[in-house]
Amino acid sequence: MRRSVIGITWKVPKWIFELLSWGKSFKNNPILGNYFLNRCGLHVTRVILAHLLFRFRLLLLSPLVSSEDRSEFNRNGYLLKKNFLSHEDFERLSQELLELNAPVREVIEGTTITQRVFMDSEVRNTAPNFQKLYTHKSLDRLMRYCSSKNRPPLFYIENLYNHANVTPRPDPQRDLHADTFHPCVKAWLYMDESSDDNGSFVYAPGSHRLTWKRLKWEYRQSLEACKRGSDRAPGRYWDGSFRVSKEDLAKMGYKVKKLSVPKNTLLIGNVYGFHCRGRALRKSHRMTVWMQARDNPFNPLFTPFPKSTAWLFERVWKKALMKIDRQKTEGGEQRNYFGALTRAECSKVSEIVGSD
Ligand SMILES: [Fe+2]
Repeated sequence: MRRSVIGITWKVPKWIFELLSWGKSFKNNPILGNYFLNRCGLHVTRVILAHLLFRFRLLLLSPLVSSEDRSEFNRNGYLLKKNFLSHEDFERLSQELLELNAPVREVIEGTTITQRVFMDSEVRNTAPNFQKLYTHKSLDRLMRYCSSKNRPPLFYIENLYNHANVTPRPDPQRDLHADTFHPCVKAWLYMDESSDDNGSFVYAPGSHRLTWKRLKWEYRQSLEACKRGSDRAPGRYWDGSFRVSKEDLAKMGYKVKKLSVPKNTLLIGNVYGFHCRGRALRKSHRMTVWMQARDNPFNPLFTPFPKSTAWLFERVWKKALMKIDRQKTEGGEQRNYFGALTRAECSKVSEIVGSD
């Protein structure tokens, strides 16, 4: 009894810190998952505040990008730039990534093998063409603006191998969802074209905006996520990445769009908007440079030192990743190895694979 009181007391500061920052789990944090507090509007208050501060930071950072880019991003919730790199730079980068030997983290989602390489400074030192992308001026400015954080993102290589010969597992990426309760961005530079063959990114344009209908939906979801046991409807409510049904999406006035793009396209998306990974019809690959810049949504300001802040985030995240690695590899969820990404032959004329 005494031990459990001490245990809970020790966790209270952590729960409060999460409440005042990016915490989103209704399951792990009893303050965020408290039915009474959410009935009084805790979740929707956090949503509104985070959105207002995001808009405020975007306003201050607006000189970083053109008005066309700003209005596309703010209208749709995403920004598409085809032929982002010069042909020569793209081909050199593509070749370099195919030959790259680095620490790979591999998980299975559905029948897709997802491999990721965290492109920290050590790996970048072995990849000069990637380093050139890392310092690309236009990419830097776009990411600093769209994230509203004025710092370069964390970089990964993500390589998907669809319909791999594996035992299927649940795939959380295939359901339409919002990543979290606050606006934040992920970005992809496509090294392969994306199509129905390898699964295009699916997004509901405009769903990043906080409308009255969306706010009411958020409120209902927050109450649902607080329920326990059999009272809770199936789906991933507990972790704060709310799934949205087709009916609710239609009621809120959104339609999904499949973003099939040629290789060498940059896509920056606000993942508060509803999105998912589209179904891949064939045995196929999709490699992207994957970027993410997420931190405290309640900080009204951003860093005045983009480079050194990015360096600090990279160091901290690398340490956190090692801890996550230990948990996931011990639990059999993830495999880590040093080497190249899997690019087995996938014939273009192969049979269409059944639904996964
Ligand atoms: Fe997502």
